[in-house]
Amino acid sequence: MKIIFIGPPGSGKGTQAKRIAAEHGIPHISTGDILREAVAEGTELGKKAAPIMASGGLVPDDLMIGIINDRLGKADARKGFILDGFPRTVVQAEKLDGIVGNGTEKLRVVQLLVPDEAIVKRIALRRSCPQCGAIYHLENQPPANDNVCDKDGAELVARPDDTEAAVRKRLEAFHRQTMPVTSFYKTKSWLREVDGTGPVDQVFERIQRSLV
Ligand code: AP5
Repeated sequence: MKIIFIGPPGSGKGTQAKRIAAEHGIPHISTGDILREAVAEGTELGKKAAPIMASGGLVPDDLMIGIINDRLGKADARKGFILDGFPRTVVQAEKLDGIVGNGTEKLRVVQLLVPDEAIVKRIALRRSCPQCGAIYHLENQPPANDNVCDKDGAELVARPDDTEAAVRKRLEAFHRQTMPVTSFYKTKSWLREVDGTGPVDQVFERIQRSLV
């Protein structure tokens, strides 16, 4: 199964992609996670990406395409994968066609629909584990113990790009640069639109049904 998740910031791509990946035994490939790791390690990529991410802009296409080309070339991605956060521009979508089966192989493209007003509330209360990447929400998906990861006990953190100004810019980037990607896949009849509102379990069931 080769799946792409598209959705605005905070629409639940990471939350749902982890579950779908576990359910189908395929790797969850999040370009946001790859970039955050590069920033934490202080690599050349991380140094270039850090200020762009903090401001809510998009990292240049050529860098992102190189990352995905390398990652999809690894053995574990041969039988399937779930891409979370890529492609985000039409240029990235066109290049992905070339990387995956020369544009002939059908991809399952899931667009999570969540209104902008709900996004702001979700992101303000998001916390994540800096060690294992687990995602929490202080109201909707709180950890068992205050501000501590259920899985490894690490102290939970808010993401540096979750400021109000950066979230506004990320939403703007989504509408201007990523929405055209949904039209690109609609033309191919690969797009499945899924309501991303309501409890996490309900959204998961809707996604599962859309993948059949
Ligand atoms: P990335 O990490 O991909 O961020 P994003 O797209 O802004 O998405 P988020 O991670 O913020 O949200 P999500 O949809 O995963 O939601 P989550 O599950 O956490 O990218 C970060 C940056 O990297 C970009 O801004 C860009 O700079 C760069 N980048 C990455 N890929 C790139 C690319 N291809 N090209 C160029 N640049 C790129 O959920 C959010 C919160 O809501 C959580 O607290 C969660 O617990 C809660 N929640 C989840 N589901 C529900 C529900 N059903 N009900 C209530 N709360 C819920």
